Amino acid sequence: MQHSTAYIIGFSTVVCVICALFVATSEVSLRPLKERNIRVDRQKNILSVAGLVEPGEKLDAEQIDNRFEQSIRPILIDLATGEENTGIDPASFNQRAAARDPARSSAAPPNPSKVLRVPDQALIYEVVKNGEVDSIIIPIEGYGLWSVLYGYLALAPDLRTIRGITYYDQKETAGLGGEVENPSWKAKWVGRKAFDERGRIKIAVAKGPAGPPDKDPYRVDGLSGATITSRGVTNMLQFWLGAEGFGPYLNRLRGQAGA
Ligand SMILES: Cc1cc2nc3c(=O)[nH]c(=O)nc-3n(C[C@H](O)[C@H](O)[C@H](O)COP(=O)(O)O)c2cc1C
Repeated sequence: MQHSTAYIIGFSTVVCVICALFVATSEVSLRPLKERNIRVDRQKNILSVAGLVEPGEKLDAEQIDNRFEQSIRPILIDLATGEENTGIDPASFNQRAAARDPARSSAAPPNPSKVLRVPDQALIYEVVKNGEVDSIIIPIEGYGLWSVLYGYLALAPDLRTIRGITYYDQKETAGLGGEVENPSWKAKWVGRKAFDERGRIKIAVAKGPAGPPDKDPYRVDGLSGATITSRGVTNMLQFWLGAEGFGPYLNRLRGQAGA
């Protein structure tokens, strides 16, 4: 049976409209689920860098939510002064969107991490254990080889000792730069020192292996075959621990501790 051109065009249009409706409906109906999964994944990363989730420990979304609620206090800070900003609800704050918005960010000076804009506010997390602040978690981001890597660094209350590092979003090559997500590499950060006694940023990813934290506190094993990603990790720590990033906030805390 031969169909007319008008019939074929009409039929194709109807099929396209039905498919488009199906895709649009799925996208809209699945969006809350997708956003929830992103939030839970972020929470899980924060818990793991705080040492509140063991590597390999299986938790469902509700358990992650509960553990996060119990132990983690999100705080919004003004980066320039390091003061807490109580005018904005941390729950509604999207730092990536703020960094893109010229009204809520400023241009970063040229830097090897290729951070272009710094948000006026940033979201950090206090980890509370037995009523005491056990660590402070700051967001970090910067270029590796192929992509911007997004992660968190946890510091102990002495503000020098690293409690952990984690990356939750990166597109480096699996098995090379992607090894930033390898639990055994992340474990090598625990107990290293981000700063020396005089508050200078010292932590760096080495070109090869580093010694144990007590003998070689400022260096972490390089990722083999991924010198560029490794350098990217060093660069982003230099940036975010420094004056353009969380330097004013960390200085304020050091002042409080010394007072
Ligand atoms: C397909 C491909 C993927 C690569 N992915 C990465 C990567 O994710 N991170 C990285 O630093 N280097 C990556 N490299 C290697 C870099 O090009 C570069 O050679 C390397 O960083 C140098 O590290 P090395 O001195 O440890 O060999 C990749 C190379 C190839 C061919």
